[in-house]
Amino acid sequence: MGDKKLFDEKLSRRCLLTGAGKLAIGAAGIAALAAGGLGVVSEAEAKAKAADMKTWPWPYKKLDPTETAELAYKEWYRLFCGGAVISSIFTQLAEKVGEPYKSFPVDAFKFFEGGMSAWGTVCGSNSGANVVTNLIIGPSIEGVSKDGMLMGSEMMQWYSDAQMPVYTPKEPKVTAEIPKTVADSPLCHVSVGKWMKAAGKPLGSPERKDRCARVTASVAYHLTELLNEWHDGKYQTKGVLPAKSFNIPAQSNCTECHGGNIPSPPEKK
Ligand code: HEC
Repeated sequence: MGDKKLFDEKLSRRCLLTGAGKLAIGAAGIAALAAGGLGVVSEAEAKAKAADMKTWPWPYKKLDPTETAELAYKEWYRLFCGGAVISSIFTQLAEKVGEPYKSFPVDAFKFFEGGMSAWGTVCGSNSGANVVTNLIIGPSIEGVSKDGMLMGSEMMQWYSDAQMPVYTPKEPKVTAEIPKTVADSPLCHVSVGKWMKAAGKPLGSPERKDRCARVTASVAYHLTELLNEWHDGKYQTKGVLPAKSFNIPAQSNCTECHGGNIPSPPEKK
């Protein structure tokens, strides 16, 4: 009941702030939400949930980096890199905060695996980290906040520079030594490729799998450290938006792909 009162208050406050028109969900949709699930959700609660899923940032409570990394490590074996990073943070916040984390479809983000549907683009742990920073810190709206994206960008740089995997789980599934490599890139293909070459292990080996689970845990650990700093008002971002400095969206290791002959984008008008 207390919860419901809070939801109602939050809802009316939001309506006052943004105008009722911003709650762009029709009466039919609300009724469907109220009728859905286990059928125990009141209309007001359904309304509040719909509003919260559509607006962010969402509330954050400080988490323990080690506990988060351990969760991410375990979840890798179920959801792979991207889903596991999101799950490690959101399942804890579902406990500590409740909605909207409880309703967030974490398992849907399994497709981040293998650099998005196995294409080897951005390592899923970076994609997952960016989902988390943007939902918790806020949208990138000029003049409002760019921090969600900047922390996401900082994570990509950190990932690129780190001797991965950084984190060693308490009870690793693979006890053999796992070599560490620097990807110098946020891409799955480059990161996994350099590691496989150094380790001499194929994609399907238990070592490669455990390496990726540990990389995922490493990202979850560092992300939690940054979110905790941000929560305490101590976060100074190191994140940059490379497209602004290079006039083309890019990773900063230009020479790795272009060699000594880095092309320049057409001049700004
Ligand atoms: C992951 C590999 C990779 C990285 C890293 C990379 N590029 Fe590229 N880039 C490419 C490929 C592949 C193309 C398309 C091939 C082409 O047409 O030359 C391209 C195209 C371009 C183009 C447009 C095509 C042209 O030839 O003018 C520019 C400009 C460019 N890159 C600049 C950069 C700069 C600057 C950086 C670093 C800040 C960078 N790239 C980093 C792979 C990369």
